[in-house]
Amino acid sequence: MSKPDAPNDVPHAPNLARRRFLQSAAAAATIGAAPPLPAEESPMTEPSSSLPPLRPAPPARPVRLTINGRPHVLQLEPRVTLLDALREYAGLTGTKKGCDRGQCGACTVLVGGRRINSCLTLAVMHDGESVTTVEGLAQHDTLSPIQRAFIEHDAFQCGYCTPGQLCSATALLDEFKAGTASTVTQDVRARPPDLTQDEIRERMSGNICRCGAYPNIVAAVRVVYERG
Ligand code: FES
Ligand code: FES
Repeated sequence: MSKPDAPNDVPHAPNLARRRFLQSAAAAATIGAAPPLPAEESPMTEPSSSLPPLRPAPPARPVRLTINGRPHVLQLEPRVTLLDALREYAGLTGTKKGCDRGQCGACTVLVGGRRINSCLTLAVMHDGESVTTVEGLAQHDTLSPIQRAFIEHDAFQCGYCTPGQLCSATALLDEFKAGTASTVTQDVRARPPDLTQDEIRERMSGNICRCGAYPNIVAAVRVVYERG
């Protein structure tokens, strides 16, 4: 029986693979050690000449708002939201910032009697308009009917969503009185006949309560509706 060739005469397959691996690793290490390209030569960087020049922020300007019946003139940059204008500039911190992106309803206020998410609108867009916040729902020391009903029905726990819920419910009752239909109204061509629990749930669906006080909130709205 003939003896196999010595390993050095014919390259052994595993040795060849190992040598190729070491050669590739050395090449990769050399590339990795190369100094980085200067920023202007990097293919990922745009030449600085193509960037638009920075523009200074537009200056603050006076914005006139009637808030809870009182005139205010606030010096605001155009980028200030109505929510921040109320909280940071007018000092009315009753309106809450939950998500700051139109998802929770904590910032709901009434503008011209209509409910809006104050985090989604700029204060300058409401120059000259009337805003009602939760601080403006009571008349002097007398709570509004919906505020009283919230207390009677335990319609809150931590209370963070409550200012938005109260403003929303106030507008809801007015909208229903005006005959506005909702997406659960059976016949949208006719006045909705009754403010049912389904109607209340749907009309309050933009206001999230993380404590889950929904049944009590619905009961509070319903009782104000029933009392007329
Ligand atoms: S803070 Fe405006 S909707 Fe949540
Ligand atoms: S009462 Fe806590 S989030 Fe509504």
